[in-house]
Amino acid sequence: MNARANTPSLEAFWMPFTANRQFKAAPRLLAAAQGMYYTSDDGRRVLDGTAGLWCVNAGHGRRQITEAVERQLSTLDFAPTFQMGHPIAFDFAERLAAIAPGGLDRVFFTNSGSESVDTALKIAIAYQRAIGQGTRTRVIGRERGYHGVGFGGITVGGLVNNRRVFPLLPGADHLRHTHDPARNAFTKGGLPAHGAELADDLERLVALHGAETIAAVIVEPMAGSTGVLLPPQGYLQRLREIATRHGILLIFDEVITGFGRLGAPFATDYFGVTPDLVTTAKGITNGTIPMGAVFASRKVHDGLMTGPEAAIELFHGYTYSGHPVACAAGLATLDIYAEEGLLTRAAELAPHWEAAMHSLRDLPNVVDIRTIGLVAGIELSSREGAPGARAYDVFVDCFNKGLLVRVTGDIIALSPPLIAETQHIDDLAAMLGDALKRAA
Ligand SMILES: Cc1ncc(COP(=O)(O)O)c(C=O)c1O
Repeated sequence: MNARANTPSLEAFWMPFTANRQFKAAPRLLAAAQGMYYTSDDGRRVLDGTAGLWCVNAGHGRRQITEAVERQLSTLDFAPTFQMGHPIAFDFAERLAAIAPGGLDRVFFTNSGSESVDTALKIAIAYQRAIGQGTRTRVIGRERGYHGVGFGGITVGGLVNNRRVFPLLPGADHLRHTHDPARNAFTKGGLPAHGAELADDLERLVALHGAETIAAVIVEPMAGSTGVLLPPQGYLQRLREIATRHGILLIFDEVITGFGRLGAPFATDYFGVTPDLVTTAKGITNGTIPMGAVFASRKVHDGLMTGPEAAIELFHGYTYSGHPVACAAGLATLDIYAEEGLLTRAAELAPHWEAAMHSLRDLPNVVDIRTIGLVAGIELSSREGAPGARAYDVFVDCFNKGLLVRVTGDIIALSPPLIAETQHIDDLAAMLGDALKRAA
């Protein structure tokens, strides 16, 4: 099936979120990575326009992380965190608490974004019950939201392909999404002007279901995976206000926006809106070792620290919650972020980034360009009867020419490592521009 030298058989690995048969007929393999670049298995340099999968914020091949992981593996490779502890998990939680979004300084460790989302939903429901609001079991998401692939996450998620085959949690409902290119296309220099009123959907769902049935509402402050959808001006503030008024917990899914992507440590800081729970993963270890964390407010945490002292307060956790090696990777990652100012660097790069991305505006089939921090979404018109095909061709073309981009439907999403220099941004824009010109 695959004629390349030194390449193993591709048969056994059932690839996630991949057209397996198409991929294996014409594979794209990455063999090494350093700094801003991957090296493909045939020896080509590929500029990483996506920080891997929105996770390698400090760039590839960071020695400090490698050495911390090596040290930890040879000191304490694994230890349980159920009714036991090890110092590095507490250290890492304290370090995270010190930069916690909106001061949410109680930290529950997971191993992925999906686990963080399901954990946050469970914490929200458990909290409501603990404070005497046991009828609040309903969770609200948003259309076009992506919250990973657990049953909780796909329930509150808003992508039909992730949902249609699977049974979902009962009672969930959705806000409408905020994507409105008819009014907001090519917004520059800030958030889209139109759509704050869409937050009132929460009011509508309260009227429909009763506030006393709703535990939490979860949104991505900036929806990344579904095509870089920015919150309209005032939207998040309004959602916060409505949720508070009705005793509904607000969860921000910051699996992508956490750890500097928008130019502030978290989107919570960037937008100045404080939720009750924040989910993270990805950049927490620079993508090196799987890990996630849920940040909870004191109110939520302390609300569950009741009952007999000998009783477990939350029947939830993972074998690898607070895995020592992941904590070591995370601590070294936080050191790099602090030493190199990476949690705010996107703010410095944002004007150059925005200008570079908007320079693609007049290329064929470009119908919208959206940027925030060091993120961009470039939306293309779809080919008749073949949604997604045009962007997919651009993705393959870019890879063959030395640039990794990501596509969702006919939207190209870009999120390079936060160590990018302006030259990388210019190279990225030039390569993408050429590919857009070639795409019919
Ligand atoms: C907002 C958001 N939530 C959750 C997830 C799921 O994370 P994971 O793939 O680590 O489970 C993602 C992944 O891209 C995401 O973007």
